[in-house]
Amino acid sequence: MTLIMEVPVLVAANQKMPMTQVKVDAPHPGEVRVKMFASGVCHSCLHAYDGSHATPMPMILGDEGSGVVESVGDGVTTLVPGDHVIISWLLNCGTCPPCRNGKPAHCWAPSPFGALLDNTQRFHNAKTGEKILHYGPATYAPYTVVPESSAIKIRKDMPLDKAALIGCSVTTGFGAVTNAAGARPGQSVAVVGCGGVGLNSIQGARVVGAFPIIAIDTSEGALELAKKMGASHTINAAKEDVLEAIKKICPRGVDYSIAAVGSTKAMLNALKMLGAGGTMVILGAPPSGSMLEIDPTANILAGERRMIGSKYGSSNPHVEFPMLVELYLNGKLDLDSLLTGNYRLDEADKAFEVLAKGGPGRGLITFEQ
Ligand SMILES: NC(=O)c1ccc[n+]([C@@H]2O[C@H](COP(=O)([O-])OP(=O)(O)OC[C@H]3O[C@@H](n4cnc5c(N)ncnc54)[C@H](O)[C@@H]3O)[C@@H](O)[C@H]2O)c1
Ligand SMILES: [Zn+2]
Ligand SMILES: [Zn+2]
Repeated sequence: MTLIMEVPVLVAANQKMPMTQVKVDAPHPGEVRVKMFASGVCHSCLHAYDGSHATPMPMILGDEGSGVVESVGDGVTTLVPGDHVIISWLLNCGTCPPCRNGKPAHCWAPSPFGALLDNTQRFHNAKTGEKILHYGPATYAPYTVVPESSAIKIRKDMPLDKAALIGCSVTTGFGAVTNAAGARPGQSVAVVGCGGVGLNSIQGARVVGAFPIIAIDTSEGALELAKKMGASHTINAAKEDVLEAIKKICPRGVDYSIAAVGSTKAMLNALKMLGAGGTMVILGAPPSGSMLEIDPTANILAGERRMIGSKYGSSNPHVEFPMLVELYLNGKLDLDSLLTGNYRLDEADKAFEVLAKGGPGRGLITFEQ
């Protein structure tokens, strides 16, 4: 059955998203339709909203969310209506060798940007019939449709508002340290950019027993939260020379730096703060077309340093979402402090304004139930 709903739709960069009547189709074979409970507000969507990432439109944004399965398409075997799920923004095929191997970020046949796996949309403008693109899982829609493999079932006693955050920021930040870096107890981890994603790298570092854990940000509010989540040291990049401050804490440089902000300047610092053998993990996505200028001899070769990218914290959401839920329910992961703002769906523009100003933690859109 087709549903009609009101959704904020991105129609032009840097413009308020008009609440638009949208038709959402029933799930196709192998897909599920989810009634959304909450959606986190990620800077990746802000990059689309403010034009720093080239983005096709009209589009429904949202890459971090949770909800309840409302209906399932033919052939769906792992989910039934009523299941509580966290949405994975990797709309991967679920069957190719990397997917089978637990590496959905390397999927050979992922959904094209703006569409589902079959390269079509489930959203249309209710008045004009025009197709509306999906920003990955389009979690700002009160009902969204995703492939079966992108809706991951979780325990029903997990609060769905906190669960939503696991859909992007938590898994990405945490996994950057535990999966991509593979940091071990006593190794040093510096996190450059302690927003929704970076704060969870701080948490990942705390959980693995890293030390020191150095939080670097330009906002005092972000640094305060980082301390609460396990940072042993903080550096305010707006007030201090970051590399000098790092030298005082780790004279030979850090083992791992996590670049969790879309700024090439911050990334260069993250690279230069590495000690010999150190690894920088790139999470942030600078504006489209940005270039990072490095000295390959001094920055990489001489100290056998490495620079790696990590998509979604190099995670396997089917394994890691339920694991992160357990960590939260058992007091090992702080999602309560991470959640700093609550918005209605028609306040999505306001949520972006707050995020753009560097508001600490993560904002959450909660849907009417
Ligand atoms: N790799 C992935 O899979 C993945 C997933 C999610 C988000 N991202 C990207 O990660 C980045 C961070 O996302 P977020 O939602 O945490 O954003 P955010 O806005 O919540 O956090 C960014 C933080 O960086 C700080 N900052 C800004 N300039 C800085 C500087 N020069 N030095 C140090 N800190 C600085 C801000 O004060 C803020 O606290 C974005 O570029 C986003 O697109 C990547
Ligand atoms: Zn995101
Ligand atoms: Zn695949």
